[in-house]
Amino acid sequence: MAAFAIHGDIIWTERPESFSYIENGYLVVKDGKILSVSREKPQCEIIDTGSSLVIPGLTDLHLHAPQYAFAGLYMDEELLDWLNHHTFPEEGKYADTSYAEKAYSAFASDLRKTATTRVSVFGTIHTDSTLLLMRKLEEAGLSGFVGKVNMDRNSPDYLTETLDESISETERFISESSGFEYIKPIITPRFIPSCSDELMKALSRLSKEYNLPIQSHLDENLSEIDWVRELCPWSDSYGDAYYRYSMLGPRSIMAHCVWLNDDEIKLMRNTGAYIAHSPSSNANLSSGIAPVRKYLEAGINIGLATDVAGGSSLSMFRMIQDAIACSKLRWRFDDTSGKALKFSEAFYLASKGGGSFFGKTGSFESGYDADIVVIDDSKDSTVLYDSLSIPERLEFYTYRHPDENIIQKYVQGRRVL
Ligand code: GUN
Ligand code: FE
Repeated sequence: MAAFAIHGDIIWTERPESFSYIENGYLVVKDGKILSVSREKPQCEIIDTGSSLVIPGLTDLHLHAPQYAFAGLYMDEELLDWLNHHTFPEEGKYADTSYAEKAYSAFASDLRKTATTRVSVFGTIHTDSTLLLMRKLEEAGLSGFVGKVNMDRNSPDYLTETLDESISETERFISESSGFEYIKPIITPRFIPSCSDELMKALSRLSKEYNLPIQSHLDENLSEIDWVRELCPWSDSYGDAYYRYSMLGPRSIMAHCVWLNDDEIKLMRNTGAYIAHSPSSNANLSSGIAPVRKYLEAGINIGLATDVAGGSSLSMFRMIQDAIACSKLRWRFDDTSGKALKFSEAFYLASKGGGSFFGKTGSFESGYDADIVVIDDSKDSTVLYDSLSIPERLEFYTYRHPDENIIQKYVQGRRVL
């Protein structure tokens, strides 16, 4: 693939503490990777975007595609009631692939228009609908993981598999999803309450046999945690139960982690498992506020996530806003000794932090995947516009115009928008 360069105002976070940026710079891409960022005009095709903002593609580390249809509705209950009253009945509809076709087309089409380039997505227990979801996301130009969900207990009849079905359908899912280039399978036990011990052990074995990552939920809600304590009397904690199933590692994503105890913090850090921090969802479902500063200081891998439909929006800019707001509220109410998240840190979590789950993604350092989003923020309605620095323009856009005026988007060097 020939090299090309995007000319614009380029900004990224190599480190959480501060932005790196070049005004009027050239971001050079070769063979799907970032080659360099420089002020010098390179000898290759130039895509001139004027003074548009050029940022890394963002990463949504956890969301539920079948819940997109009701995102923005039903936020007045906590997790377990919300699952039983709204989420499970909606997910049951995906037994019908023609319903899935309609709903997943809208999901993929809307996701394509956002700044998100990488995703780790839950489907439903239905293999054919989940394969269809993979195809829609692949066609929309996104990259990442999709999981067929496993559930063999404590779920309504219409959304429960037998142990044998759950295992054999997961094997079929793995085999039939091998043809996609950018969207790959991920092992997806919903959470411990909906998966028997035997199923968890079988899924752990499949992840090793096929070398596949794993995603699930951990320590989201207090009633959920009490329930897991009853279901797994042989474990020290919810996190320890996943650890004993051999499901925690650098290729695992645990959504939420609002309530990790000190031992679970050590487990997450020592295994390298990722936290998908979902601040909007945690507020909407009254789950709580994850102590992100504490987790960062402990050295845990963290990215941001919408958790649609716990979160109502597909926008990772909204997640940046909410991560900062929630962190400030926690700081005020709980522990003023540390510091709340600041903008560059939250942007880092949404780009390089979560992006590292997918490899070298989410930054403009040499050798990183060329996931690039170009934003024409010149229409911003502030008289201050001309006097703003590039980080200030990005902050203003994040809060005032999230996901508007995206004029180009590249995933692994391919232009997808
Ligand atoms: N825990 C188990 N299933 C779910 C789900 O669909 N959404 C959220 N937020 N938490 C869960
Ligand atoms: Fe979730």
